[in-house]
This record gives sequence, structure tokens and C-alpha cells, in this order.
Amino acid sequence: MRKNIVAGNWKMNKTFQQAEELVAEVKDLMEEHEIKHTEVIVIPPFPYLEMATDLAQGSPLKVGAQNVSDHDYGAYTGEISAPMLASMEVNYCIVGHSERRKYFREKSKALAEKVKQLLNAGITPIFCCGEDLEKREKGQQEKVVERQISKALFELEPDDFSRMVIAYEPVWAIGTGKNATPEQAQEMHAFIRKIIEGKYGKDISENISILYGGSCNAKNAKSLFKNPDVDGGLIGGASLNAEEFLKVIRGIPA
Ligand code: 13P
Repeated sequence: MRKNIVAGNWKMNKTFQQAEELVAEVKDLMEEHEIKHTEVIVIPPFPYLEMATDLAQGSPLKVGAQNVSDHDYGAYTGEISAPMLASMEVNYCIVGHSERRKYFREKSKALAEKVKQLLNAGITPIFCCGEDLEKREKGQQEKVVERQISKALFELEPDDFSRMVIAYEPVWAIGTGKNATPEQAQEMHAFIRKIIEGKYGKDISENISILYGGSCNAKNAKSLFKNPDVDGGLIGGASLNAEEFLKVIRGIPA
């Protein structure tokens, strides 16, 4: 079954104390508003993961990490591995965010390894794809996204692929206040589902969750999430305030 998911990628924001407060607020608001049919995930920086998984225990709130090593253990100073995340009961992990592709030069080969590490450790990868403004202006968005997905993910066996979550995050929409229109989002999500169907068949493509990310907020969430191929969102700025994040979550059709 395709899941509705709203995930808050906090990026490099919040002190420990602020993070603790925000996780607690999100958890309380979910309870108060009886959020049950949407999987809600908070994705704080690494040092706050244990605090977040502790607070989330016994509630439906899930916790994700923003990145993972492409190795499982060893002499890789500063890195965090998938088995380490699993040992802290982390449920999800972002792979291939455009900020990591751009500032840390992450390429498809390493991303494919990260995905395998996560799946082996029982963590659900949230794989990000999306074109930059130049490619959008040239009309090459489908080509870019097809290449990103096929290069990093299409070596996976069908059973493994079916455990993925995909996030379409057009780079020109991230942190710019200029979200994709609901039509643009639907068009790209349907395209992503089509290429997945071509490779893995209809059953898998119909059941995979595809999230939209890029300036998604309390005002536009509803119009984006109502599209048949948009199963929720990967939220940056609007996830840093619990009330605003709740409004985004409530944008999922009842
Ligand atoms: P914004 O919602 O701040 O545009 O960020 C989106 C994003 O990059 C989520 O991963």
C-alpha cells in the first residue's frame, strides 16, 4: 500500500535544546490532532537522533537521518554508517539530497552504495532527485530525473526497490519560496512512476510513495498533496516550526 508521508528535513538548524522542544511539540500536536493516516518523520542533525528516537518511542512519530556513509564500518573519520543508525532505531534516511550532490559532490555510484547499506540495515532510504533551473528552462527535467533514478537505483532487485521512498525536489524550488505548481509536480511524479513501472512493473510503481519537496509550506501543501501521484512532502523551512509543520501535515487529503 502506498503510504502518505510528510517528512521534515531540518538540515543544519537548531541547537540541541531547540531540537528537543521541536520534537516534543510535533509529537504532542500529532496526538492532539489524531494524525494517524499520515507517516510523520522528523529528520534532525546526527547528534540529535538519539534524543529524537527516545522522545518518539511509543508514538507514531518516526525519525530519519539526513545522510549516511557508503561504508559499513572502519577508518572513515567523521562518517556515520547505516548499522549505527539502525542501532539507534532510526527508521528513514535521506540519500542524494541536492545540497549533498552540490556541496559534497556526491555521485550516483556512491548514492547506490548508500542505498544498499541502508536497505541491508533495515532503514528506508528517501532518495532525492530533481533538476536545476538551467535544465528546467531547457525542458530537460525528465531526462535529468530519469538518469538520477536509473543510475543510482535500477541495479536493485525488485524486492529491495519496493522498500524505497522517492522525493522529487526540483533544485530551483528548494529554499527559494518558488514551489513547483501542482501541475508541474503531478506531471513529474507521474513521469517518475512511469519509469519505475517500465523497470519494475505496475505493482511496484503503484505502491511506491513519491514525495514532493521545494518550498512546500502551510499555504500550498494542500494543492500539491491532492494530486494523485503526490503522496506527501519532504519539507525544509516549514518543518522548523511545529504549528506550521502540522498545517503541512494536515494538507494530506483526509
Ligand atoms: P525547503 O522546504 O526549505 O524549500 O527545502 C526543501 C528541501 O530541501 C527538503 O529536503
